[in-house]
Parts: sequence; C-alpha cells; structure tokens
Amino acid sequence: MPDLTTTLGRLHLRNPVLVASGTFGYAREMAPYVDFTKLGGVVPKTVTAAPRAGNKPPRTVETASGMLNAIGLDNDGLDHFLDHHLPYLRTLPTAVIGNIAGKTEDEFVEMAAAVGARGAGLAGLELNLSCPNVSGGTDFAVDPALTRRIVRRCRDACPNLPLVAKLTPNVTDITVIARAAADGGADAVSAVNTFVGMAVDWRRRKPVLGNVTGGLSGPAIKPLALRAVWRIAQLKAVPVIAVGGIATPDDVMEFLVVGASAVQVGTANFYDPTASVRIADALPGALAALGAECVADVVGTLAT
Ligand SMILES: Cc1cc2nc3c(=O)[nH]c(=O)nc-3n(C[C@H](O)[C@H](O)[C@H](O)COP(=O)(O)O)c2cc1C
Repeated sequence: MPDLTTTLGRLHLRNPVLVASGTFGYAREMAPYVDFTKLGGVVPKTVTAAPRAGNKPPRTVETASGMLNAIGLDNDGLDHFLDHHLPYLRTLPTAVIGNIAGKTEDEFVEMAAAVGARGAGLAGLELNLSCPNVSGGTDFAVDPALTRRIVRRCRDACPNLPLVAKLTPNVTDITVIARAAADGGADAVSAVNTFVGMAVDWRRRKPVLGNVTGGLSGPAIKPLALRAVWRIAQLKAVPVIAVGGIATPDDVMEFLVVGASAVQVGTANFYDPTASVRIADALPGALAALGAECVADVVGTLAT
C-alpha cells in the first residue's frame, strides 16, 4: 500500500485529496455523504471580514462540461465563522484549511491576525487572492508586488499557520504571481480559481448571470488548469495544490505527474458529493500502477 501522505511547506496532509472552497459549504452540509477520515482536507467557503449578501441572481448557469458562477462571496463574516463554523470544523477527523478574502491589503492582514489568534484547530489558511466575482473588489493576484506583500504580511500576522495563496488564472503569466507568492513566504499556492466568462440569452438579449460575468469551473477547465500547474511546478519555487476540473482519480494522477503535491475537488462536489471520497479511495491503486511507493514518487515526473 503506497504512502499517501503529502507535505507542502509546513502543511502535512494524510493524503493529497482536498475539497475546494465554495463547493463544500462549511462541511456540515456534506457530513451525510462524506466520510471525512478519507479526505486529505477540507477548505470551507471563503469568509470576508463583514457579512456579505453576494451578487444578485441568477448566480449560476450550467455550461458545456462546466458551470459559470457569480456567487459574490455570500458569507456571514469572519466572526460568525470563528464562533459558529469553526467549533464544528475542528471536530472533523481531517485537516481544515480556512479561506479568507480581504477587501484591502490591510483587511487581509487584520483577518489573518484574527485567524492566528482565534483559529485553533485549523491546519492552514488559504488566502483567496483571486475571487473574480466581487464587484468593486480587486483581484489581488493579478499584481505580483501586491501578492508578495499580502502573503508576507499575512505570514507575519499569522506566523503559526501554513499559508496557501490561491491564484487566479486570469493573468498573462501565472508563474510571475506564483513566484511572488513564494517570495512572500507562502507554504503553497493553489492554482487555479475560476476563469472569467459569460453566458448570454440571445432571445432576450440579456446576460444569463445577474452579475453579467462569472467564473468558469468544472471539467471544461481541466486542460487549462493542468498547463497552469505544470508551468508553476517547473519554477520549483513553491509546492502546488491543483484545482480545476478534477472529477476522477485519473485527473488527480495527471495533476500529480505535472507537479502538484495535492489537489482540490471543486465543481464535481455539486453533481456527486461523494466524488472526493471515491477519488481518494482509488488513489493507492493508481499510485501502485506506476510502481510508486509514495505520492512524492509521482509528483513532477512528466517526461517531455
Ligand atoms: C459555486 C462556486 C463557488 C466558489 N466559491 C469559492 C470561494 O468562496 N472561494 C474560493 O477560493 N474559491 C471558490 N470557488 C472556486 C473553486 O474553489 C475552484 O477554485 C474552481 O471552481 C476550480 O475548480 P473546479 O473546476 O474543480 O470547480 C468557487 C467555485 C464555484 C463553482
């Protein structure tokens, strides 16, 4: 039986299969369907400093092999997360990686400090530097200097928790941003968040989404995510958590081979809440098929 553990900077996981933020609620909702002991970790929905109502509906629309969403970070705010969700999350028999989004650089830092002080039970903290749906908000991870500064300041404000910088693919060169996150002291980067797109109802000559544009996710984006992860991994500057269209054990193996040390399952949770568990169950067999004794034996072994 291959060793499934994986290590990304200071983050140690039982296995490389996590579930992605925004697709798994705050885990309570999924408890009837998911054996948490099987997962490498859970990333709950992004929280912001203050509660947010999110965008006007419709907020999701199905596309070919994927979906567009413009939820707009609908959440009850950081205090509610720490007081209400975290007491449940810390009872789960798996790693829980909090996920925060600040409206400004300073707000990110204040939130990271609050999580550092009150976030006992978390295994790490993911910085959502990349939400494309927050009207008036900034997509921080389009700017390498800003990315480096936010990661560095959050690391200083929250020194005890491994930090993961979640990157947007909506940039010219994602490796520049990944390197900036590494320079800032990120333990890992997660790549990628959704690709900005739109859907149109031509009969009504209207956008389908209330927000007009939204983020594309699901199997449709897997080839794009694979390339992004492959390019970041080649930097050898920071471990990568792959996100984007992962729905099967084969998908996970492809991302490990191109250089990811862990993965997150996102949109697949919506149409099959058991997907992540099925994938984790199949992983030992897939690793054994390559003669691998551990996850690291496969990571970044693409022959080109
Ligand atoms: C409905 C929906 C809501 C999402 N909300 C968040 C969020 O709150 N925070 C975040 O970091 N990513 C969020 N994401 C992005 C996912 O975590 C993931 O990065 C993206 O969907 C690509 O992975 P996938 O193709 O497996 O879904 C959301 C995605 C979807 C589909």
